[in-house]
Amino acid sequence: MLINSLNRCWLLATVARRFSSANLKSVSMQKINYDRFVNALSARRKPSPIRELTKLYASAPAGTIFLAGGIPNGSTFPFSQMTVELKDGSSLKISGKTMENALQYQPTPGYPALIHQLKKFQSEVHKLKELFWMKNDLLVSTGSQDALCKALEMSLEEGDPILVQEPIYPGTSAIIRPLNAKMVPIAQDEEGIIPSALEDVLSTFGTAEEVSAKSNGVPKLLYLNSTGANPTGATISTLRKKEIYKIVCEYNLVIMEDDPYYFLHFEEQDPVSFLSMDVEGRVLRFDSFSKILSSGLRIGFVTGPKDLVHRIELHTQASTMHTSAFSQVVVSTLLEEWGSAKLQQHFKSIQKFYKDKRDCMLAAADKHLKGLAEWNVPKAGMFLWIRVPGIADTKKLITEGGILHGVILVPGKDFLCTDDAKSQYFRASYTVASPQDIDKGFERLANLIREENK
Ligand SMILES: Cc1ncc(COP(=O)(O)O)c(C=O)c1O
Repeated sequence: MLINSLNRCWLLATVARRFSSANLKSVSMQKINYDRFVNALSARRKPSPIRELTKLYASAPAGTIFLAGGIPNGSTFPFSQMTVELKDGSSLKISGKTMENALQYQPTPGYPALIHQLKKFQSEVHKLKELFWMKNDLLVSTGSQDALCKALEMSLEEGDPILVQEPIYPGTSAIIRPLNAKMVPIAQDEEGIIPSALEDVLSTFGTAEEVSAKSNGVPKLLYLNSTGANPTGATISTLRKKEIYKIVCEYNLVIMEDDPYYFLHFEEQDPVSFLSMDVEGRVLRFDSFSKILSSGLRIGFVTGPKDLVHRIELHTQASTMHTSAFSQVVVSTLLEEWGSAKLQQHFKSIQKFYKDKRDCMLAAADKHLKGLAEWNVPKAGMFLWIRVPGIADTKKLITEGGILHGVILVPGKDFLCTDDAKSQYFRASYTVASPQDIDKGFERLANLIREENK
């Protein structure tokens, strides 16, 4: 008999735990009732029995005979091993069991080795307490966009108000709009969303007690970018974050901390995240390797309350099943090879790269746009958010005029919550253009604005 009695007990206990939703509820020791954040569609999702068994397969003790899943036999695949050469001259050799994993179905939350590494990573970066993972979980997503989309679809009902920073990343409004939810804009300045503006907006829905108690017709979510926001480049200061977090607790909200530019900051210290200050289980944080390792790998991860991450997992079970194992194994092998010191060193070099790029764009803006436009100096991210005071709406200038003059930018209007609103702003990205092209681009832009102002 290959499975000894100990293993059998383990198997039975694990199966019982996985399949009892009642038990899942009691294991979670959260004070917040997360039903408030789960819509009817999401509440109807049930675990896929086959996907749950894949979790068992990944963590089963040696000797377990797995006859359950429709798993293709890896020996029939044409790939045997891979070597990924790195720019520093070293290489990642992926072969044997690791290569088998890269080619095979994996548990929905992610490749187990990567999940383990990412939990350690989050604990270090956000200084999470040991008990954090008792109540919270992490799921690897296909870019942070995937988790963001599933989280919003998990929570919003038609007509629901959702608090969002305005201007807003169009990738987020593209999720919210077709759900027929109502974006309620919160004003920002160079330090991100303004706490008093948040409180003013919330008070229009009732007192903190009234909003907290209601499930319908009141905002339950606050969407924001903490670091180097898209498109404004604003980073929310720690003090502001504390004020915002306090309001979020008072009004029984969950913060959707969409923070793909977290490591693209230009300060000495990493920012203090909302996740790191969360004591009540009110933060669903979206991270991304797109800006720091590769956007094509499509690796993001969501961290937050178990009850909510589990709902995203059930959606993933029914859609992609899991993020590409190939990508996950490449990232996991890199993290293993580098360790946290080398990874931090890599982040430092990216920060310097983009800081130099930002400075180059600021220099070009000073040279060509002074007196024609206004901007703040971003402390993080990829963007300069530029206002042209003499023009009521930049859409025509930036699209038609820009194309004609050979400079492409994004008009501010594309980042607004309402379709017919006007914007004096546009977004310029300093990431890929050369210093010469940035200079030439802003010279063309200055001519364009001058012509428009005539
Ligand atoms: C604010 C914001 N959130 C999410 C994303 C999506 O990133 P990912 O490539 O991880 O899906 C982006 C991409 O530009 C972004 O700017």
